Amino acid sequence: MREYINETEYGIKPYKTLTSKDIDSWGSGLWEDSWINIYTDKRLINKLFTEPILETCSKENPFALADFGCGDGMVMKTINESLKKDYQAKIYNIDKNPEGIEQMQKSQDFEIHPVLEDLLNLPKEPITESYINYGTARFAIPYFSQEEQPELLNIFYRCLTPGGTMIILHDGPQHKGEGKLYNHFFEEINNVFRSKSNNYYPSVEELVDNSKKIGYKINIAKELTEIQAWLSPRSYDSRFKLTKQQFTELKKIFKRGFDKKQLPFTIDCGAYRIKRPLTYCIISKPK
Ligand SMILES: C[S@@+](CC[C@H](N)C(=O)[O-])C[C@H]1O[C@@H](n2cnc3c(N)ncnc32)[C@H](O)[C@@H]1O
Repeated sequence: MREYINETEYGIKPYKTLTSKDIDSWGSGLWEDSWINIYTDKRLINKLFTEPILETCSKENPFALADFGCGDGMVMKTINESLKKDYQAKIYNIDKNPEGIEQMQKSQDFEIHPVLEDLLNLPKEPITESYINYGTARFAIPYFSQEEQPELLNIFYRCLTPGGTMIILHDGPQHKGEGKLYNHFFEEINNVFRSKSNNYYPSVEELVDNSKKIGYKINIAKELTEIQAWLSPRSYDSRFKLTKQQFTELKKIFKRGFDKKQLPFTIDCGAYRIKRPLTYCIISKPK
């Protein structure tokens, strides 16, 4: 029996099969007039993750990268393709779920070192203190509870070199007030899946507050409004195997949300939809 991070992950489609054929495909989003899948689109990964790294790394000096909560390793695979052989980069992909990590262990990709560990209990080896020049956390922080998230940011901080940078992307709105409503909405959704997860979507504001308390310098912190992404009962159905009853329950929750008019809901292509906000932050450990 495979172990999943929470029950809603059962029946999950691997990222490589996620498409952006239509608005109801999980992860689809409109970016620069094209429909993309925000998980798998390499141009987007390069724009958000690779470019900021290339702006500051050098070909002469070796450096270390780590993806915290890497899943199937899509982010570092894409970054590594862009770095090619021109850079002396050592890459670590860390996740507590063995599935992606075991695939990486079998692969012939010698630049990427898979690390099967729980981020909250990250051992001091192989990611030693002040070792990582660039860390990434894509769609990973919300997998931790509100109470755990400051500790998680602390662990990243411990791993970073002075001047080291974390690049973060996940679902979350700009402000705390809206964040509270979003979390309440996703709690209702989780209840449909009878999921015991205590996932928490931090707003940009909360992430910045937590990061500043630890000592991070904030370079970029914003809701990524240039990507328009939406969630609907059908998009949930495209990713998880919904029963008829779950689908009906989701439709009711979406309709209730729409009627309350507190969050950015809409009706499009015959379905209630909620705007999926994306938080993008680049924070660094001072030199
Ligand atoms: C939505 S996936 C994102 C995967 C990857 N970052 C990406 O964007 O493709 C969230 C990942 O966080 C990982 N995760 C959740 N809790 C974790 C923990 N305590 N320690 C390590 N990884 C964790 C999950 O196993 C999962 O692979």
